Amino acid sequence: MIRTQVGIVGAGPAGLLLSHLLHLQGIESVVVEARSRQYVEERVRAGLLEQGTADLMAESGVGERLKREGLVHHGIYLRFGGETHHIDFKSLANRCVVIYPQNKVVADLSDARLAAGGRIFYEADDVSVQDFGDANSQTRPRIRFRANAQPQEIECDYIAGCDGFHGVCRPSIPEGALTVYDRIYPFGWLGILAEAPPSSDELIYAYHERGFALLSMRSPEISRLYVQCAPDEDIHEWSDARIWDELHKRLATADGKWKLTEGPILQKGVTGMRSFVVEPMQHGKLFLAGDAAHIVPPTGAKGLNLAASDVLVLSRAFTEFYASERKEPLENYSKTCLRRVWKAQRFSWWMTSMLHLFNTDNAFDRRRQLAELDYVTSSRAASQTLAENYAGLPME
Ligand code: FAD
Ligand code: PHB
Repeated sequence: MIRTQVGIVGAGPAGLLLSHLLHLQGIESVVVEARSRQYVEERVRAGLLEQGTADLMAESGVGERLKREGLVHHGIYLRFGGETHHIDFKSLANRCVVIYPQNKVVADLSDARLAAGGRIFYEADDVSVQDFGDANSQTRPRIRFRANAQPQEIECDYIAGCDGFHGVCRPSIPEGALTVYDRIYPFGWLGILAEAPPSSDELIYAYHERGFALLSMRSPEISRLYVQCAPDEDIHEWSDARIWDELHKRLATADGKWKLTEGPILQKGVTGMRSFVVEPMQHGKLFLAGDAAHIVPPTGAKGLNLAASDVLVLSRAFTEFYASERKEPLENYSKTCLRRVWKAQRFSWWMTSMLHLFNTDNAFDRRRQLAELDYVTSSRAASQTLAENYAGLPME
């Protein structure tokens, strides 16, 4: 039997950052992860950090590589009707964002945890959580799993469910204790990673009659590109040539001057899009953080950033509890997080609705979307709203 203060399920960004922030406050934790370290660190996912997330990494001592390799962007481009419009975060919100891949965030955090003697069980099988239901009970919660075929048990004061959307923690909460708010979109994104220098200094979000497209990047050598597709799109139907052809069409400018640089495709995949929130984000001694509690469509680039703000709130609540036995911040965890979560939900839904073609679209909707894009790029008030939400609302 292993004894710790906070048992953490999941070694994604939420679980690792929580473990790291707790360690800085002298609070012990043990992390249990279903996958291998290599799998978690190679998974291609998010790429964009709000300034607040990048600052949190730097202030907590895991920002060295981020400072060296992160690409600081002061805005984004919106492209529609073949014209390109810049939204300048610096002048509108006095903030920036940083391009830094999620797999590097995860690698930096796991390096820091392991160097500090932190315990992470990778490749844990049959993970389950028990005895967490009553916040006032004397019984301690447990995490059970098998590691190298041996049964293991962690006894802790609290459990943090950082195990993503398909994890085990949220479904372990009794039905009826949670309310789910859900929206599934009638499209997905087909994403590629290409060995091609990015064809733009900043991200391009393109509205096009063939569907949405996004040009993003991972480094000065690697581009990340997406096209809107069917939610159940068969990736085998998409040859490399077809993907490039679609990207050229959707990202084209009216004057034909802008050029998209191609390169070998290193990875491709289709992601479905949904908005999802569970309330409350806690039950007894179990606290849900990150994708375990909420999902956003990727158009606003908020998922990883919300995971970071959740665990910042949670780490502060634990710090308060272990320093002074004050339980109030823990009791208010869900309420504190949900205010920011819902604003990020609103923003992600709005960006998604403005930029994608819906299967119910008619000529009126297209005109309305174009009017919205025209408004957002011509009114300072509207572009400021976009800028302050995209670059990130305050963390607490
Ligand atoms: P996860 O990263 O899902 O981590 C959960 C961990 O728990 C995983 O390692 C998983 O293996 C583990 N786990 C699952 N089940 C169990 C179990 N039973 N027992 C033990 N461990 C378990 N967000 C942004 O902010 N910006 C972006 O630009 C962006 N782009 C994205 C693009 C794509 C294509 C996708 C798919 C997502 C994107 N996101 C983006 C979202 C972002 O990747 C997620 O929000 C983020 O990974 C959430 O972190 P997390 O730690 O909560 O969950
Ligand atoms: C990415 O780089 O993967 C990315 C960037 C911005 C988004 C979504 C994804 O809105």
